[in-house]
Amino acid sequence: RRGRVVVFGSVNVDVTSYVRSFPAPGETVHSRGFAIGLGGKGANQAVAAHLAGARVELVARLGDDPNASVALGVFARFGLPVGTVERMPRAATGVAQITVADSGENTIVVTAGANELVTPEVVHDERERIAAADIVLTQGELPVATIERLAAECGMRSIRFVLNLAPPVSVSTAALAVCDPLVVNEHEARAAGIGAAVADDAPVEAWRDAAAAAVGTVARSVVVTLGPAGAVAASSEGAWVVPASRVDAVDTTGAGDAATGSLAAMLAEGRPLAEALRIAVAAGTLAVQGRGTVDSYASRAEVLAAASPASAVEPR
Ligand code: RIB
Ligand code: NA
Repeated sequence: RRGRVVVFGSVNVDVTSYVRSFPAPGETVHSRGFAIGLGGKGANQAVAAHLAGARVELVARLGDDPNASVALGVFARFGLPVGTVERMPRAATGVAQITVADSGENTIVVTAGANELVTPEVVHDERERIAAADIVLTQGELPVATIERLAAECGMRSIRFVLNLAPPVSVSTAALAVCDPLVVNEHEARAAGIGAAVADDAPVEAWRDAAAAAVGTVARSVVVTLGPAGAVAASSEGAWVVPASRVDAVDTTGAGDAATGSLAAMLAEGRPLAEALRIAVAAGTLAVQGRGTVDSYASRAEVLAAASPASAVEPR
C-alpha cells in the first residue's frame, strides 16, 4: 500500500559551483562547473518520498520570481503534485548558494525568502490534510513556530510526525517529544540534547546507545545519520545500527534528504523503523554518487535492490 506523506517543506533553487577546493575568505577561485536546480530540504524530501512510492502532498510557498518557475518545472518533471504549493506576491523564492569541492563536501548559504511564509496559520488551514496523513514530515528550514504548531497538531490527532531537525534550530521539548522519529545528524543530535557524551571518533554503537537513551525522554523514536558510516535508530522496540556500503562521494548535497524522504515513505507504507532505515540508508548512498540533489535520487526499485540485508539490523 502506498502511504500518504504530507510534507510541510522548504523549497529553494540551488545555485551550485563545483570547485577544486573551497575559497578562503578574500580568495577567488575558478569553478569547474555550474548548475541551477531544485533544492530545499522539504522539496528534496518530497521528491525522494515520491520516488520511493508514497503519495506525497507538499505544502510550500514560492515567490513571484523566475526561480518559482524553475522549482515548479522540476516538480512537473518528477510528476510531483503541487496543489498545495502557492506562489506569493512580492516574495522571493528561497535560494541556496552552494559550493561543492572535489572532496564531495559542500558549503551552503540559504536565503529563506518565501519559505518564511509557511506560517502556523498555514498549518491551521491544512489541518484536514494533516488528519488524513500517514506521516507528516518537516525540516528545520521552516519557521520554528510552524514546526511547533505542526508537532502540536500531529500530537493532538495521533498522526505520526517525522522531524528532520536540519539545520539544528531550537524547537520546544514538547515538539521534540512527539517526533517519531526525530531525524538528526551527529551535530544536530547534540543540539537536541542527544549524544553529548559521544566522542567524535566513537564507534557507531555509541550513537546507537545515545539514540536509545533519548527514546521516551527527548523523542518517541530517534534516527541519527552518520554519513558514510550509515545510521542508527532507536524506538521502544529496540535499537539498531544500519551500516552504509562504501562508495566514492561525488556530491553529498541533499543525500540526507534522499534518506529522510525515503524513510518517511517506507514508514508510511507500514514498514518497521529498522527496515525503513535500511532502505533509507541505501537511498542516501545512491544519492551521493551523482551531482545535484533530486537528479541524483534513485527509483524505488533501485533503492530496494541496493538495501543491505536485514541481518544487518538485528535489534541490540
Ligand atoms: O539538504 C540540502 C539542501 O539544503 C539543499 O538543496 C539546499 O537548498 C539547502 O536547503
Ligand atoms: Na547527489
